[in-house]
Amino acid sequence: MSKTVDIDWGKLGFSYMKVGLRYISKWSNGSWDEGKLVEDNTLAISEASTALHYGQQCFEGMKAYRTKEGKIQLFRPDRNAARLNDSCRRVLMPEIPEEKFIDACIQLVKANAEYVPPYGSGATLYLRPFVIGVGDNLGVRPAPEFIFSIFAVPVGPYFKGGMVPVNFITSDFDRAAPYGTGAAKVGGNYAGSLMPHKVAVDKGFADCIYLDPATHTKIEEVGAANFFGITKDNKFVTPKSPSILPSITKYSLLHVAKEYLGLEVEERDVLVDNLDEFKEAGACGTAAVITPIGGIEHKGKFHVFHSETEVGPVTKKLYETLCGIQFGDVEAPEGWIVEVK
Ligand SMILES: Cc1ncc(COP(=O)(O)O)c(C=O)c1O
Repeated sequence: MSKTVDIDWGKLGFSYMKVGLRYISKWSNGSWDEGKLVEDNTLAISEASTALHYGQQCFEGMKAYRTKEGKIQLFRPDRNAARLNDSCRRVLMPEIPEEKFIDACIQLVKANAEYVPPYGSGATLYLRPFVIGVGDNLGVRPAPEFIFSIFAVPVGPYFKGGMVPVNFITSDFDRAAPYGTGAAKVGGNYAGSLMPHKVAVDKGFADCIYLDPATHTKIEEVGAANFFGITKDNKFVTPKSPSILPSITKYSLLHVAKEYLGLEVEERDVLVDNLDEFKEAGACGTAAVITPIGGIEHKGKFHVFHSETEVGPVTKKLYETLCGIQFGDVEAPEGWIVEVK
């Protein structure tokens, strides 16, 4: 881990960069091979791969963090393994044993340790695990072969000059169907989100808010992040729905709210016509941890929560505590941290 790379950590955004090695494992004839680290960042796959035509694929997003002592740690990789396997089952791809998944993450991070940004920069090493259906195939059916791979990219802190609230607008489009693939991290969900995202950005908003597909009355997701609100009587509330992607950050914040901040927590419907019940609101996910929500426009009416410019105190405390756990400054609940050594 003594090698160094010439990167201006403070300038990093969220962009692809080729780093030294990536992990790749192949599935054929009923089993995964052992997997290996390779230099080549391109994949040669059959033109008839199901991943290309029928969207038979899924992915994950997670990070490796550098602590004050210079150690490297992963945050809840078992949760990413479980969610990847939920997604694999949903699109009929073979699961990755949890041990194989975590071992692959550790191998990859160790091999690219010089790309794990220094403590204090706010930057992290982002890991992108994915599974794709490959091999010669024409009809709509599961692929004959699969690839499980993970690559890593150093990424900057989401908010360079500190956390700032941003505004969102509800979308007339749906992200997922009531019994569709919303709870799985499959690429098709994201292809479908590109246009609603652009519509929101063109109107001057950071992203769109998806409402429940059946009634369009309840908040489901905030772009590619989950929603939470803090009620006027200090409850942490987050929507419950089978078509939301279960955010690992969200469930971690729910635990932090309850066990570290002593708040009551609720997973339940969040009516878009009842935003007045919240004094603060945020979007949460691996990329930003928390994006404070300044306001939400719905049917021409703009609702402001705490402030369009200032972050609310509960949101700030949630953010600081969870980041503290991820970077090793705050004691983590048992099993949340896996050291890379
Ligand atoms: C649609 C969607 N919702 C929510 C999240 C947040 O999930 P997590 O906290 O596990 O990153 C993500 C990112 O993975 C996402 O793509």
